[in-house]
Amino acid sequence: MIVIDKSTCVRCGACLRDCVVHVLTKGADGFPSFRREDETFCLNCQHCLAVCAQGAVTCNGVGFAETRAVEPLPDGRAEAALVRQRRSIRQWRDAPIPDDVWTRLVDSLAWMPTGCNDHRLHFTLVRNRAQMEWYRRAVSRKLQALVRTRLPQILFPKFRRYMEEIARGDDVVFRNAPCMIVASTPKNAPCREADPWIALSYFDLLAQANGLGTCWSGFAVHAFKGLRGLRRALRLPRGYEVGTVLLFGIPAVTYARVPQPRPLSVDVQ
Ligand SMILES: Cc1cc2nc3c(=O)[nH]c(=O)nc-3n(C[C@H](O)[C@H](O)[C@H](O)COP(=O)(O)O)c2cc1C
Repeated sequence: MIVIDKSTCVRCGACLRDCVVHVLTKGADGFPSFRREDETFCLNCQHCLAVCAQGAVTCNGVGFAETRAVEPLPDGRAEAALVRQRRSIRQWRDAPIPDDVWTRLVDSLAWMPTGCNDHRLHFTLVRNRAQMEWYRRAVSRKLQALVRTRLPQILFPKFRRYMEEIARGDDVVFRNAPCMIVASTPKNAPCREADPWIALSYFDLLAQANGLGTCWSGFAVHAFKGLRGLRRALRLPRGYEVGTVLLFGIPAVTYARVPQPRPLSVDVQ
C-alpha cells in the first residue's frame, strides 16, 4: 500500500517515473494514485519513497520518519582498489570481531538486492567458537571416513592433494576460520541461484573494507548439501536450501602486492 501525503507532494511525477511495475498512476488531480487492485504487483522496493525529495511517500508503512537521507559514497578509486585487493584469507588471528563491525555487517544484510525484491534470504551466522568447532569436526569425521575408502582418490585424481590434507586432519572445508555465514533461500524464490551469491559477495567486500578477512567455501556448500546432519545444525526454515557459504574473521596475513590477473575476455559492442 502506497500513501501519498498531498500536503507535501509537489506532483513532480518522480515516483511515477521510477516505479518499475507501474502501480502508481497520475490521478485526475495530478497527484500520484495507487490502486488497491495493484497491491499484489507492488514489489515494495520503495523506489517511490527513495526518489521523493519531499518525503511525501509512505510505502507499506515506511515513510520519511522511518528512513535516512542518503550519505556520500566512497569514491570510485577506493572501491576499485577494494575489488582488486580483496584476497581469500586462510590464516586467522585469534581475536574477536569488534561489536561495531559485526553490527554494521549484519545490519547491512537487509539491503542486499534480491530478484523481484523477494528478500526471503535466511542467514546463519556462526560466531561461537565451540559451534564452529562442531561443524569442523562433523565434516572432518565424514571426509576422513570417505578418504579411507580410497574411492575419492580414484574418482577425483586431480584433488589428490586435498585427500592427503583431509587424511592429515587439515580443515580444507572451513579453513580454520573463526566465523562463517551461510546464505539460504526458499526453494521457490524467483532467483534462488543468484540471491545468496549476490548477498555474500556484498558481505565479502564490506567485511574486507572493515578490516576482516574472508574466504568463499565451495567445499562447505557441498558439505551442507550432501550431509543432512550437518545441514540440520543450520536450523534452516522449512522449504529453504543452502545457497552459499563465506568464512570470515580477523586476518593474520597482509599482502604487499596486487596480483595481476590474466587478460580479460571482453567484447565491447
Ligand atoms: C565460488 C567459489 C568457491 C570457492 N571455494 C573455495 C573453497 O572451498 N576453499 C578455499 O580455500 N577457497 C575457495 N575459494 C577461493 C578461491 O580459491 C580463490 O578465489 C582463489 O584462490 C584466488 O584467490 P583470491 O580470492 O585471493 O584472489 C572459492 C572461490 C569461489 C569464487
